[in-house]
Amino acid sequence: MQKFIVNGGRRLRGELALQGSKNSALPIMAASLLCGEDCVLKNCPELTDVYAASRILNCVGCKCSFSDNTAVISSGEITANTIPEELMREMRSSIIFLGAMLGRTGECTVCCPGGCELGPRPIDMHLAALRKMGTDIKESYGRIICRVPEKAHGARISLPFPSVGATENIILFAVTAEGETVINNAAREPEICDLCGFLRCCGAEISGDGESSIVIRGKEKLHGCEYSIMPDRIAGATYLCMAAATKGEIILTNACVDAMEPFLSVLEQTGCSIYTAEKRIFLRSGARLKAVNDRIRTMPHPGFPTDAQAVLMAALVTAEGTSVFEENIFDCRYRHTDALVKMGADVQVLGKIAVIKGVNRLYGANVEATDLRGGAAVTAAALAAEGVTEISSISHIDRGYERLEDAVSRLGGSIKRVYTNSTSTC
Ligand code: EPZ
Repeated sequence: MQKFIVNGGRRLRGELALQGSKNSALPIMAASLLCGEDCVLKNCPELTDVYAASRILNCVGCKCSFSDNTAVISSGEITANTIPEELMREMRSSIIFLGAMLGRTGECTVCCPGGCELGPRPIDMHLAALRKMGTDIKESYGRIICRVPEKAHGARISLPFPSVGATENIILFAVTAEGETVINNAAREPEICDLCGFLRCCGAEISGDGESSIVIRGKEKLHGCEYSIMPDRIAGATYLCMAAATKGEIILTNACVDAMEPFLSVLEQTGCSIYTAEKRIFLRSGARLKAVNDRIRTMPHPGFPTDAQAVLMAALVTAEGTSVFEENIFDCRYRHTDALVKMGADVQVLGKIAVIKGVNRLYGANVEATDLRGGAAVTAAALAAEGVTEISSISHIDRGYERLEDAVSRLGGSIKRVYTNSTSTC
């Protein structure tokens, strides 16, 4: 069992280079198995979810190696068409290997994916789209058996919701399908554009990514390439919220300013001074934050990102005034609020609404990370709290943050990872 021990009350100061994006690296790793040749992925973050993706690749016959934030994936030979349940369960992204496997081999057996427990996370949109593009899908005893009897063909797909994962799965299947595929109401997240940028490097023909309608013209074959993964906009939001919560002053380098705009435009309403230039973001938050007057509504990109909801809340629990969140993407994404309340925050949750009444201070406590972004939020609150906080179940955090304790320590925060045998609950 691993824990973070955080000694709060120190202002974060300094410069930090942003890690590569988890939510871009994962679909791009899935896409690499379409090529049949080596792909070299630079700026690849060292995360447990990335290693889980490499286990899936190795399990179907690819070879995946890492060194110094570079992944090399050889997909010359696919030797299996089933992704075992234990690998599917490790993360949500495992489901997008389905589209890539069908695109490469025409058959694949999976089960429902795992990932953060944010409420029901069905895959009905994924399966409906794959069926429309010619896939036979049978579900039996929890297994989803997929086969493309003839050549996969393009189709016009209208998504009922701009699902990120469904958009990715359709793209991964369509790039080698016969004819043209049009995705209407497609997700517009920056990670979709990064996936399409990688696929274009491999010879795919895709246009419209970043907009609501994406057009893919299928190609017979794709080739390998070398590609640099975009920076992680949510990790960037996290470190900025940690600096804001501790009245600090930091510079983020290797940042994706445009992709972070929907978040930055809300953060600056808290009274922080934010300056951006090229790939750098400078934040100074010398005084107590102000509450955000307008309701903070999480929406598909280019709306406020749901993945930044928890970490911004952690910064606002000690702000002056009352802030209101409305979580519109997931049914159960306030699981971190219990820990914040235990540390002295005043948070009232009613359905998808959370009301945050700013308190003067937080106090260290023994708390647990409930999911990836909730765990980062609790860590941010611990950095701002008086006294010592112990955070358990930090394996959730390791899924999406590259050695969080090193990054925070580099900015002057007092945090250390300890290995304990006890399974004591807090
Ligand atoms: C991706 O999840 C991200 N994960 C999530 O980040 C992110 O929160 C989410 O997109 C929204 O931006 C990765 O990229 C690995 P969705 P995904 O499909 O693809 C419903 C993090 O913290 N839905 O856009 O699962 C679904 O239940 C993670 O890094 C269906 O109903 O998100 C949810 O309510 C957490 N049927 C909503 O749509 C479907 O077939 C959005 O889901 C698919 C989705």
